[in-house]
Amino acid sequence: MSAKILNGSELAKSIKENIKKEVEELKKQGIFPGLAVIIVGNDPASRLYVDFKKKDCAEVGIESFEFALDEKTTEEELIKLIQQLNIDSKISAILVQLPLPAHLNEERVINAINPDKDADCFHPFNVGRLMTGNPLFLPCTPAGIIELLEANEIEIAGKECVVVGRSNIVGKPLAILLLSKNGTVTVCHSKTKNLDEVCRRADILVVAAGKPELIKGNAIKPGAVVIDVGVNRLEGKKLVGDVEFSTASEVASAITRVTGGVGPMTRAMLLKNTVKAAEILDIKNKKAYN
Ligand code: GUN
Repeated sequence: MSAKILNGSELAKSIKENIKKEVEELKKQGIFPGLAVIIVGNDPASRLYVDFKKKDCAEVGIESFEFALDEKTTEEELIKLIQQLNIDSKISAILVQLPLPAHLNEERVINAINPDKDADCFHPFNVGRLMTGNPLFLPCTPAGIIELLEANEIEIAGKECVVVGRSNIVGKPLAILLLSKNGTVTVCHSKTKNLDEVCRRADILVVAAGKPELIKGNAIKPGAVVIDVGVNRLEGKKLVGDVEFSTASEVASAITRVTGGVGPMTRAMLLKNTVKAAEILDIKNKKAYN
């Protein structure tokens, strides 16, 4: 293996130490960041993610409030809860863990979140602000990837950036962020022709397709930087990314691993958004009373 490992765990740890200090300062000013985490149903992966997020909050002094709702919760009940949290002064930010059970409309649920409390940056108001270059919050996984690149002094400006995957959570917002950093961006998806050929153009290749080991070393330009967003559990229980690590790491100059790469960075960015939301709430409260 010749590639440098881009260590998200290590970077996230130092980011969290800074956030912890920031939270201590905010508390001295009477500002207490609080994150509401809503989970509907019993999806084991979602349960694990929510537990991680609560643990992260505790580590940096952010209070988390879990709302674990029954699988059969109606859309009306869920939206009613969000509306209550929207006006609750203890709640700075709200996160609804996705995916939701099939009978709930994710778009309507996300639209119910107060855009000032939008921990994930999923609300169309915030997506629009991101698109027009004046973001209020940053989407967690894309922002985590940008911070990981920048901390490792990987220049984005002028580079060929290829993003595989066009989800609202990762691919689309990441393309916008890379563009805002002056990358030349191509977005690939399941209908892209000659996927490997397009990937081989990339100086920076980000794969968020949700397909185990979709991209192998032969689709990577020698010396490229490879960011693997995928987490897939194979039947033998082995965890693999969307990139075949063994072959890709022979060709790339730098690469993330399936664990300790993008995941910890995503979680650190959620904490950043929660602190930002607490500051926004404080500013708005002061304006209301003056
Ligand atoms: N499900 C998978 N990723 C995410 C995420 O970043 N936020 C939320 N809310 N749900 C998710």
